[in-house]
Amino acid sequence: MDLKIAVLAGDGIGPEISKQGVAVMNAVCKKFGHNVVFTDAICGADAIDKVGDPFPEETFQVCMDADAVLFSAVGDPKFDNNPTAKVRPEQGLLAMRKKLGLFANIRPVETFDCLIHKSPLKEELVKGADFICIRELTGGMYFGEKYQDNEKAYDTNFYTRPEIERILKVAFEYAMKRNKHLTVVDKANVLASSRLWRQIAKEMAPSYPEVTTDYMYVDNAAMRMIQEPKFFDVMVTENTFGDILTDEGSCITGSMGLLPSASTGEHTPVFEPIHGSWPQAKGLDIANPLAQILSVAMLFEYFDLKAEGTLIRKAVNASLDANIRTAEIQVEGVRPYKCSEVGKWIVDWIEQQ
Ligand code: IPM
Ligand code: MN
Repeated sequence: MDLKIAVLAGDGIGPEISKQGVAVMNAVCKKFGHNVVFTDAICGADAIDKVGDPFPEETFQVCMDADAVLFSAVGDPKFDNNPTAKVRPEQGLLAMRKKLGLFANIRPVETFDCLIHKSPLKEELVKGADFICIRELTGGMYFGEKYQDNEKAYDTNFYTRPEIERILKVAFEYAMKRNKHLTVVDKANVLASSRLWRQIAKEMAPSYPEVTTDYMYVDNAAMRMIQEPKFFDVMVTENTFGDILTDEGSCITGSMGLLPSASTGEHTPVFEPIHGSWPQAKGLDIANPLAQILSVAMLFEYFDLKAEGTLIRKAVNASLDANIRTAEIQVEGVRPYKCSEVGKWIVDWIEQQ
């Protein structure tokens, strides 16, 4: 297969982990005879510094011309600590989502046995938990009408039927591919937007008779995720609820540094780690590249290249088993490996298969 990949390394540890993701992707493409071409493009604080725009037109064009985007991270403390900053790196992320029409954000919540002790939950609760959260990504309060003056402010949680239908369709289809259990998360006891979500989900459910669909208020879902994470298989929710619940999800696994995500929709899909840009570690070669590397696995799987994805997942597990780990997950008595060493070990392992 011919694959054109836009590489958006961004800020902080982004460039370091991006390099490892690209190296692994190259190794897998070589092994399976795929022809891959990478094109770098700037985004985030890096792009603000260079051209004054966190998602410049040129970067948008590189993304539009590509089959997939391998994204790393954006964000820089110099903007966080400056409330008067007119442009922020995060706006680049929102612009990318909107312009590429990335309405479906797929965030797996999966545990790695060797990291379960890092979970804030009891082992028996979290061991074996494996679900995905599908977050609507281009609507709701993030993009609805906003107003702010000194006395009042509002954000509008606006959703249309087509926006709701298309994300629910993605969710039902994921449920069909997994354990056929879909939980629609909303706040239909209070919010009109949620009532429309629930109404449409109920209209669509009969078309997926094999899927057990249940409906849960978001406050209850937040609680259930820590009480019984194994209850969930596929969860679908609107943008803001999804933002909050996916942070909760990534943290209960104890494996935040290992979790990848995919954003798909109308144009080029984007694959990226769930974690952020960790500016304090920039340039130190200590960041964990596994979430980025697993994003490459998700990328292959998106194109139905299952063996390629599986090989990467096996390589990552092998590196963990061999204790080739970065500092934050290394076991006692074994030296921590650098970001580049973990990446190289995984590339070598793939080449030897
Ligand atoms: C995320 C992030 C973003 C969001 C921020 C950085 C705008 O928290 O991807 O979850 O709120 O969507
Ligand atoms: Mn978030």
